[in-house]
Amino acid sequence: MKIHTYEKLWLGAAMVLIVALIATITYGAVGLGISMVDDEEETIDPDALDEDDRFNDPRVEHVGENEYEAYVVARTFMYQPDPIEVPANSEVTFYVTSTDVIHSFSVVGTNINTMVIPGEVSSMTAEFDEPGEYGVVCNEYCGSGHHTMEGQLHVVPEDEFDMTELEVEGDDEVAEDDEVTLNVSVENGMLDDLETTIEAEIGEETFEEDVTVEGDSTYETTITVDAADLGEGDHDWSVTVDDYEDSGTVTVVDDLEDDGGDDDE
Ligand code: CUA
Repeated sequence: MKIHTYEKLWLGAAMVLIVALIATITYGAVGLGISMVDDEEETIDPDALDEDDRFNDPRVEHVGENEYEAYVVARTFMYQPDPIEVPANSEVTFYVTSTDVIHSFSVVGTNINTMVIPGEVSSMTAEFDEPGEYGVVCNEYCGSGHHTMEGQLHVVPEDEFDMTELEVEGDDEVAEDDEVTLNVSVENGMLDDLETTIEAEIGEETFEEDVTVEGDSTYETTITVDAADLGEGDHDWSVTVDDYEDSGTVTVVDDLEDDGGDDDE
């Protein structure tokens, strides 16, 4: 049988096209690491996210030298946390779930893009080499506020990133024969030790304490001053740790009418 030269050419071209098509689809399906959110992934009760250790407090966690995990909750019409803050030169694994309807978690200008389905946890890992600010948008129509659903991902310079949290509790009112007490807690969310100084001012009195807060733990201390030294009246106080500050005012009174609060010895 004789096949015409042109027919051979067309046959060959068709073969090449078919092989190229299959190769393209195969590469798109497995080569790029794209996958569907599927039922084999762990499931989660979308109505009970507040009982889940990861999602009851949406946050970023430090899990290894340059490794972080971000637990993100999508809901109509926002993302939590917002902004999501991570340092440059890091590898971040995002775990995202929804508490209501289907959303997406799409970081503009990156290849981070996933559907977020209530009951399932989508996860993906990305590396951030440089500082930058990215918008997070929702690509799945999720309701009347869909077009307003957005969040922020901030990649901050490494030396500006920390996971310190300062919390101070102080009395509003203290009797003159008692002590003014500030309960200070410094939480260090990083795995490395945090060396810092707690500085405090109560009225004219100043305090300073160098502390080392171990990785992934909280340091607590109490600062006291005799109310009599401050004298009757209002006294401002402030506590600073690195760039964090908390402040308030305590009133020293002659006699405390309701003897409710402080029964320290
Ligand atoms: Cu959420 Cu659209």
